[in-house]
Amino acid sequence: MNSENKNSFYLTTPIYYVNDKPHIGHSYTTLLADVLARYHRLMGTPTFFLTGTDEHGQKVQKAADQNKISPKEHCDRTVVRFKELWKKLEITDDYFIRTTDESHKAVVREILDSLHKKNLIYKAEYKGCYCVTCERFFTEKDLKEGRLCPECGRTVEDIVESNYFFRMSQYQEWLVKYIEDNPGFIQPDFRRNETLGFLRKPLEDLCVSRPKKRMSWGIELPFDSDYVCYVWFDALINYITGIGYGTDPAKFAKWWPANYHLIGKDILTTHTVYWPTMLKALELPMPKTIFAHGWWLIGTDKMSKSLGNVVNPLDMAEKYGVDALRFFLMSEMSLGQDASFSEEIFVTRFNSNLANDLGNLLSRVMKMIIKNADGKIPSPGKDTGEETELRKNVFSSVNSMRDSIVNMKLDRGIEAVMGSVRAVNKYFEKSAPWKLASENNADRLATVLYTGAESLRIISGLLFPVMPGKMCELRRSLGLPKGLCGNPDMQGLEKWGLLGPGSEVVDIGPLFQRIDLSEKTKQQPAEKVKVPEVKPVPAEGLVAIDEFFKTKLRTAKVLSAEKVEGADKLLKLQIDVGGETRQIVAGIAQFYKPEEIIGKNIVVVSNLKPAKIRGIESNGMLLAAKDGKTLKIITVDGDIPTGSSVG
Ligand code: MSP
Repeated sequence: MNSENKNSFYLTTPIYYVNDKPHIGHSYTTLLADVLARYHRLMGTPTFFLTGTDEHGQKVQKAADQNKISPKEHCDRTVVRFKELWKKLEITDDYFIRTTDESHKAVVREILDSLHKKNLIYKAEYKGCYCVTCERFFTEKDLKEGRLCPECGRTVEDIVESNYFFRMSQYQEWLVKYIEDNPGFIQPDFRRNETLGFLRKPLEDLCVSRPKKRMSWGIELPFDSDYVCYVWFDALINYITGIGYGTDPAKFAKWWPANYHLIGKDILTTHTVYWPTMLKALELPMPKTIFAHGWWLIGTDKMSKSLGNVVNPLDMAEKYGVDALRFFLMSEMSLGQDASFSEEIFVTRFNSNLANDLGNLLSRVMKMIIKNADGKIPSPGKDTGEETELRKNVFSSVNSMRDSIVNMKLDRGIEAVMGSVRAVNKYFEKSAPWKLASENNADRLATVLYTGAESLRIISGLLFPVMPGKMCELRRSLGLPKGLCGNPDMQGLEKWGLLGPGSEVVDIGPLFQRIDLSEKTKQQPAEKVKVPEVKPVPAEGLVAIDEFFKTKLRTAKVLSAEKVEGADKLLKLQIDVGGETRQIVAGIAQFYKPEEIIGKNIVVVSNLKPAKIRGIESNGMLLAAKDGKTLKIITVDGDIPTGSSVG
């Protein structure tokens, strides 16, 4: 499990700005970490899961001033929102770090001091642009048109002041080589390319101080009391202080290096450039993987307070249950890509996967056992080919789940398990136990019911890290001893036949109640729903298959992307088509930022005559789906070499 040489698993979430009200986006990273931590525990790997809050900086100071309380008091009040939410969402973090913890602050000061003594931190005059909101310095060339911050789009301020700098620039060459030599270090691949792209420009030294006269809410520099530490420098260090760096060497040695730093795509540079150079300066090993997931969007928009489209996880959990929320977030997002959140998609998935497939399966198995086997797990008779096939299917989802965790493709693991749920439902329909009961075929009936229940034992174990509450209930209904309900282990999921015949099942009623579709749909009486008439397709406009095959469609990987100056709609892409690098110009700039498309495996028309678009040569055309104001690029589902033919 990404811990080849160490039998331990340490993973972290970003520490959240304590000022923010946690929304679905924040909850997602923490839930993902929780699910991964639970899977590793299930597999018997000693696991440490760290989360926490980022409590220094200007925004906290401002909010505290507005409320006329001290910044620390403000943090103490707001941190509760995170702690309570994590409790509600069944998060099993091993430690919750706050950057205002005295132990963290002391170690940050020690680190600053040692780097200063080694001349890796020096004082210099800084002239440049500063974004108050992001609390970051930018160079002129980083800015967006109109002197806007490249991160948040707000106007930056010009400042001149003395500050302390960390000699980050001296690590540039080393970092590029490290990233190139360690493909697993930044994941997914296209994010690694993005960081390498960033490192093509000269790397500057990092300003690690803020003068107190401008901003005093931070950790005071040990060598100059007029300054506090830059909030990101302080925050990143949480990943080592949280496991005892500088205070508990044995604990630190046990967990470091981290197996995963889970982050959102917006904080890639701080984690893949600042953090590794800081660790290098501290002579510490690098984390194994920094994994950036995509964003939860509302339609195609980012979730934000100002747009008023923020989804509150507590509302969703209250309305549909914590487990359903966890299941939805984990199964709907392909790790690395953005995903769209809507209640309608949520309800559709809930009804089909949870209420119909899984809930129904449990209720039909239970009903049959209660009615025909005296409410006890029956003793199975001889297997037929049907049982062997089904068992293979269930065990293959055990493997898929394991692979999906290793390869960070959680949605696929869940999909494989749901595939097994459907397979057991089919097996039930085919074996028709109700018929076996009416025919008094007791032996065969016992086998079918046992097979259904035993499959559910394995399935519920595989889904336990995602839906701990509901899977515990399911396992209790199968008559598993109490201790095993909430504590499945991988070895038990790899074996068949662990449900003990004779143990009593428990009728827990429906596991997931089907959710009615929205009021809007309800108002439409069924007879008014128009079923579209199937019309024969007119022959006119049809193409013969051989004509269609004249168009050569091939897979390609986007190597780089940039905006075309003076053309709002165009992006210029360099793509790899089976080892050949080509340039294409695509009208997608209003739908994709360059960094969002780098690394994608797309489909292109490869035998299009070269064309000049705005004077730039284009050698091919990418495929995309368009519906009104939405455009989505067609990508390839899974790994396949670039240049593969599509058709
Ligand atoms: N405090 C810094 C992190 C310091 S880590 C040493 C920070 N905090 S944050 O609260 O703004 O964001 C924390 C995480 O939440 C980020 O990884 C961010 O990507 C994630 N999310 C915020 N909104 C999100 C979505 N809409 N969707 C998914 N995750 C997003 O940055």
